[in-house]
Amino acid sequence: MSDNGEGGGCRPCSSICCRFIITSGFAALFLWLALRTSQPTCSIQDLYVPILNKTDHSIGNRNNSIFCDLMLDNGMKEKAVYYENISLIFFYDPNTSFPIANYTVPGFHQGHGKKAHRKLVVEAHGPSWEAALKNVSHGTVSVLRVGLSTKVRFRIIFWYTKRHNLVVGADIEVNDSGKKVKKKGIKLKSSSPERNCHLLLLLFSSVLVVLL
Ligand SMILES: *[C@@H]1O[C@H](CO)[C@@H](O)[C@H](O)[C@H]1NC(C)=O
Ligand SMILES: *[C@@H]1O[C@H](CO)[C@@H](O)[C@H](O)[C@H]1NC(C)=O
Ligand SMILES: *[C@@H]1O[C@H](CO)[C@@H](O)[C@H](O)[C@H]1NC(C)=O
Ligand SMILES: *[C@@H]1O[C@H](CO)[C@@H](O)[C@H](O)[C@H]1NC(C)=O
Ligand SMILES: *[C@@H]1O[C@H](CO)[C@@H](O)[C@H](O)[C@H]1NC(C)=O
Ligand SMILES: *[C@@H]1O[C@H](CO)[C@@H](O)[C@H](O)[C@H]1NC(C)=O
Ligand SMILES: *[C@@H]1O[C@H](CO)[C@@H](O)[C@H](O)[C@H]1NC(C)=O
Repeated sequence: MSDNGEGGGCRPCSSICCRFIITSGFAALFLWLALRTSQPTCSIQDLYVPILNKTDHSIGNRNNSIFCDLMLDNGMKEKAVYYENISLIFFYDPNTSFPIANYTVPGFHQGHGKKAHRKLVVEAHGPSWEAALKNVSHGTVSVLRVGLSTKVRFRIIFWYTKRHNLVVGADIEVNDSGKKVKKKGIKLKSSSPERNCHLLLLLFSSVLVVLL
């Protein structure tokens, strides 16, 4: 026998004890992996403010619409997401707290690994578009802030998790073409860090600590 355990610390139960610890450790790890969720990624793929398009001279015919292509990306391979009504709020200058527009995207269900686009036409009230157009024509970009808030639930196998807040936003620069300056999509980010994962990790490590 290779078992030479006279000097071992927890000798009487060593193999059962060790096996139990290792099994529970793996069980906790797999449970954590199975239950782990990540928030969907929200981004503005396209944004167009016709009223800031300098080369379009038919200004009288134009309304205050903002055209916006919102993309919601559920990156999780096995978990579906249910979105409650999604509220969007637009500010003309991130430093002002006065919203120029808001919009509600109806809640929906999104399968695993799926992307959804929502092409929105949002009616804006203000700012002074003439002044804004004058400013962009002089080469300064206009900055719109887009804020998104909703609650999401994740479907794990056949049950739903509790609601999680999803609150993200981004500043979007628009130049005198009325288009967003950045060619690529702009990711909406959370101002507070994601805590869910860390909590589970903490739980997992405390389980291990207790067992050891
Ligand atoms: C700006 O307006 C011009 C003239 O109407 C139009 O040709 C052009 O496509 C518009 N720009 C964008 C980015 O849509
Ligand atoms: C503004 O114009 C766009 C495109 O021309 C149109 O889709 C939208 O319905 C208009 N909004 C209003 C309130 O007339
Ligand atoms: C979602 O929005 C629709 C209208 O856009 C509204 O009728 C409905 O009551 C909203 N649902 C919730 C849960 O707020
Ligand atoms: C907002 O305010 C900060 C500091 O007060 C300033 O650095 C920033 O340029 C301002 N942003 C805009 C778009 O005016
Ligand atoms: C959204 O717009 C409507 C109508 O303009 C207004 O009654 C409502 O208070 C706005 N909501 C937010 C969150 O600004
Ligand atoms: C235009 O630019 C001026 C000077 O930078 C600024 O005070 C004003 O708020 C701007 N107006 C708009 C609508 O952007
Ligand atoms: C404004 O931004 C659009 C999109 O990035 C770009 O194609 C265009 O050249 C820009 N216009 C100016 C005057 O910088």
